[in-house]
Amino acid sequence: MLDRLRLHVYPKEPLTCAKLTQYASLKLETKRRAKPTLHLLHVGRRKEKLRSAEAGAAADPKHKESSAMEVSGLDSDGKEFKNAEEMWREQIGEDGEQQEKKTQWYREGISYWEGVEASVDGVLGGFGNVNEVDIKGSEAFLQMLLSDRFPNARNNQHLVALDCGSGIGRITKNLLIRYFNEVDLLEPVSHFLDAARESLAPENHMAPDMHKATNFFCVPLQDFTPETGRYDVIWVQWCIGHLTDDDFVSFFKRAKVGLKPGGFFVLKENIARSGSEGIT
Ligand SMILES: C[S@@+](CC[C@H](N)C(=O)[O-])C[C@H]1O[C@@H](n2cnc3c(N)ncnc32)[C@H](O)[C@@H]1O
Repeated sequence: MLDRLRLHVYPKEPLTCAKLTQYASLKLETKRRAKPTLHLLHVGRRKEKLRSAEAGAAADPKHKESSAMEVSGLDSDGKEFKNAEEMWREQIGEDGEQQEKKTQWYREGISYWEGVEASVDGVLGGFGNVNEVDIKGSEAFLQMLLSDRFPNARNNQHLVALDCGSGIGRITKNLLIRYFNEVDLLEPVSHFLDAARESLAPENHMAPDMHKATNFFCVPLQDFTPETGRYDVIWVQWCIGHLTDDDFVSFFKRAKVGLKPGGFFVLKENIARSGSEGIT
């Protein structure tokens, strides 16, 4: 599983809407190539809905040719979707009915997590063993980012991070709070955020003096606008797949105001190297 994890940093230059759009379309493009994988981020936790049709595609060269753009799939009830657009239409509807269906979409996502134990294994979907190597990889990346882009970090520069979709605060506790003077957490599921608050109480973590978890926001990303210019890094890991495509774009558009000049989004998500490889 881990060889499928990649870290992406964006932007290397100041954020512009054009770049955001480019980035968003990068996601959509990825989605075209590996839709079932991305879609699993949404529905896998509900009922392992989409299964890739690419196993069949691999055996059928004609199908394979088209599979780069058009990946069909079945849901767990056996319903077939020709492509992701068709699936999205069913999930969040056409324009007119969109709001209601979208609300339902988000409600179901949250209600899944409300039924999950507040533990590392819980937030990692049963893959708690991934925690250590995930943190190690992220730390190597973060060190590189800090020395490359924040050369004054060692000279008492006050660094602030936001951990988006933080769950129980696993990433903050194991990584971010050691490097950032302040970390804010955003998590829409209250029992996860309560667990984070407890484990990040000053007596329960080993971060350097003066490093602390400051704010705990119990809101979903699609409803969040950060305080202007507060963050050096906005870390988004293993939760962006909960957003619909339009909310994905609008989140980054809104959240960019939360970055200090020279600040970064870090987006870490699973990807498929090819076909349905990333699904398991
Ligand atoms: C796979 S867990 C990852 C948690 C954490 N990022 C980590 O790596 O330990 C996904 C998290 O996304 C949260 N989530 C679900 N819907 C969300 C939304 N609309 N906005 C922000 N977070 C969401 C879940 O409650 C859950 O805590």
